Amino acid sequence: MSIGRVIFWFNEVSSTMDTAHQLAYQGFPHGTIIVARQQRKGRGRNNRIWVSPIGGLWFSIILRPRRNHNLNLLPIVFAIAVHDTLTGYIKNCWIKWPNDIYVNKRKIAGILSESCFTGSSLNHIIVGIGVNINNEVKDFLREKAVSLIELLGHEVSIGQFFEKLVSKMNRYYTYYLESPRSIVDEFNKRTRMINRVVKVIYPDKVLEGTSLGINIRGELIINTSEGLLSLSQLSNVLRVLL
Ligand code: BTN
Repeated sequence: MSIGRVIFWFNEVSSTMDTAHQLAYQGFPHGTIIVARQQRKGRGRNNRIWVSPIGGLWFSIILRPRRNHNLNLLPIVFAIAVHDTLTGYIKNCWIKWPNDIYVNKRKIAGILSESCFTGSSLNHIIVGIGVNINNEVKDFLREKAVSLIELLGHEVSIGQFFEKLVSKMNRYYTYYLESPRSIVDEFNKRTRMINRVVKVIYPDKVLEGTSLGINIRGELIINTSEGLLSLSQLSNVLRVLL
């Protein structure tokens, strides 16, 4: 079943993540997409609020992977699809590990992944994607975030952007199934985190090292004075600074 064969469009929801979980439990198939024009309570990683007014692209996808291999690569697959779509509109965008899309130093898109298990078996995964398109970024976020309209100086058709993105998501999801190694290569081509000195911020310490890109488990490899470090997306890392 391809991604986007079933699409639900909502004017407003609390979060497309919650709607997607509900529909997944009702049995909607792999690839079902839930889009909303705006979200009252959009959420990001680490319990952060995701501001989601009209003008942005906010959606979640129900995934039912058949195998449990390389699941940590999944959000990266979607980051690559978003990055590839954005490069049709702007230059200078790159993927910041694990799966944020930046234009120079400002974030333009983010990806959130939530897995649901019944006992030890995976029920479904919801991947949520937010892209700042025609929405103006709020003043308090201006230094950290940017939208396409600000970069281009004109509006972009959200429908056309979404259509291109759905096709790229299908392309890279197929790559992921057939050759997960190609996802690692695609990420490493699209990031600025190769051979760069980075600071890894933990709640209680800061580590410095040279980032070497990701491995097949989606971990960021960092060469530190204490040896090679593999940063998992599930670790308690708060931030990686370039
Ligand atoms: C992040 O960078 O922290 C992830 C942001 C993910 C935002 C999207 S918008 C659509 C979906 N619904 C949500 O509530 N969050 C995700």
